[in-house]
Amino acid sequence: MRCVIVTRYGGPETLELQDHPLPDIQPDEVLVRVKAAGINYADIMQRRGLYPDGPTPPFVAGFEICGMVEKAGADAALWNPGDEVMGFCSGGYAEHAAVPVTQLMPKPKSLSCTQAVALPCQGLTAYHALITLGNVHKGQTVLIQAAAGGLGVLMVQIARTMGASVIGTCSSDEKCALLTELGCQHPINYQTHDFEAEVKKITAGRGCDLAVDSVGGEVFDKSLQCLASHGLLITLGMASTQLGSVQSLDLLVHNWKVAGFHLFGYTSNASATATALRDFNQWIDDGKLSITAKHVYPLEQAAEAQEMIAARKTIGKVVLIP
Ligand SMILES: NC(=O)c1ccc[n+]([C@@H]2O[C@H](COP(=O)([O-])OP(=O)(O)OC[C@H]3O[C@@H](n4cnc5c(N)ncnc54)[C@H](OP(=O)(O)O)[C@@H]3O)[C@@H](O)[C@H]2O)c1
Repeated sequence: MRCVIVTRYGGPETLELQDHPLPDIQPDEVLVRVKAAGINYADIMQRRGLYPDGPTPPFVAGFEICGMVEKAGADAALWNPGDEVMGFCSGGYAEHAAVPVTQLMPKPKSLSCTQAVALPCQGLTAYHALITLGNVHKGQTVLIQAAAGGLGVLMVQIARTMGASVIGTCSSDEKCALLTELGCQHPINYQTHDFEAEVKKITAGRGCDLAVDSVGGEVFDKSLQCLASHGLLITLGMASTQLGSVQSLDLLVHNWKVAGFHLFGYTSNASATATALRDFNQWIDDGKLSITAKHVYPLEQAAEAQEMIAARKTIGKVVLIP
């Protein structure tokens, strides 16, 4: 099969399209013919060698797929050849992937594979960060950084669906226009406006109840200052590669909370995943949530696709088609 290998840590030039045998499946795995492989920011961090406990080269890039079951292992009898599935694997930028049953989910029928592949990583992250951890609810004001990205567009729609007032930051007016279309009441182009000052203005000086930061560094620090009394800041990424900092006195004085979020601390709870998928299906059917997946590349352009994300030129999900 054709697959994209990270040959060594480094830039996009380290990605190589190679031919390899089909992966062997374990008894508790299924072999999936990949129809769409999701690209996530974590893939870029893994390629650069910056992802905590990430794989060591050489390895097949990517960890998220949507496609069709071709073969099920002896202990994977609930799945049958022909089932449309999505899930997590080791090596998603490939024509086939071995997926453990614990990481496998049914594909929502109303979505194409190109759309559905936005759900395992970015969808479940948006859901668990905002709902399971953040307890987002009606009447709150929520600040979402990188709101026009793959994760961001889903968080904007979930927060809005839960009745929150949404402030979303991004780097261009084009991205702001998309955020407005998705129901974000207060898009902010941080290149032309200071987001901290804007949040204070929008909330009449009160600040927001919940902020989600995936950028780190100065953006994390300023997001903390955007919180209202008793507010919660969730940190779940470091696209800037810079660490944020917290002064404990700030937390004490304002009753602020800071929480970390990593998706793989949530995915072993099968009933929580089933609840999240049920909600996604409902929101999609009700027209409350749509999937933005307009950046679609063939497998051989994996390097270009990753570079488009790193250069902040993408909106919504970025997908590879093997
Ligand atoms: N903790 C978890 O479990 C978890 C799960 C999923 C994703 N994440 C994190 O969430 C973030 C978003 O992931 P994604 O896959 O959906 O990517 P993405 O949002 O589609 O792309 C990253 C976005 O970050 C913004 N950005 C800000 N500063 C940046 C910088 N210095 N370099 C590059 N981009 C920068 C850009 O948007 P603007 O142009 O609008 O600034 C860019 O479009 C990533 O940090 C990722 O690691 C974490």
